Amino acid sequence: MLNRIGQFAHALFSKIGPSEKKYIQTHLNDQEQRLFFSLDRPTQTHCVRVARTCQVMMMAKEMSVRQHELIRAALLHDIGKPANIIRTRHRVFIVLLTLLAPGLLKRILRQPQGWGKLGQAVLAHVQHPDRGAEMAAKIKLPPDIIDLIRHHHQPYRPGEPMELTILRRADELN
Ligand SMILES: [Fe+2]
Repeated sequence: MLNRIGQFAHALFSKIGPSEKKYIQTHLNDQEQRLFFSLDRPTQTHCVRVARTCQVMMMAKEMSVRQHELIRAALLHDIGKPANIIRTRHRVFIVLLTLLAPGLLKRILRQPQGWGKLGQAVLAHVQHPDRGAEMAAKIKLPPDIIDLIRHHHQPYRPGEPMELTILRRADELN
């Protein structure tokens, strides 16, 4: 649990520097970059770390994986998180609730309108994979990448694409 809180604190204070910018420009076209940079800064740095972790996992396992697609999906996997609804304070609260009081999180989700802005943020958080997939479809990303975005929080299924298994694991580690 401390590890998760540490990761989160790290995400809040890390920056997109020149090397991260170059990395993003290498892998994403202009339209994809616009989506990426519409995210808040902690989500941007999280996505870069997830993409880099995916790369390390691909190298370590010598798996035959569609590398470029996986990196694009990793950079864009959280585009469905609306920065104007899920504020930093909500992110802190959602991380803590997920770890310490998942029952309360479920209660909020049953009636989000009764919890004001926090309810909206929790709902947006839960819906972000589907929303992200819809945004990706709008800019005509390949169906494989759309599927990775849509399913990145779903539990492991036997027979799922290897790219999804790696993305989910890299997301959990970051
Ligand atoms: Fe996510």
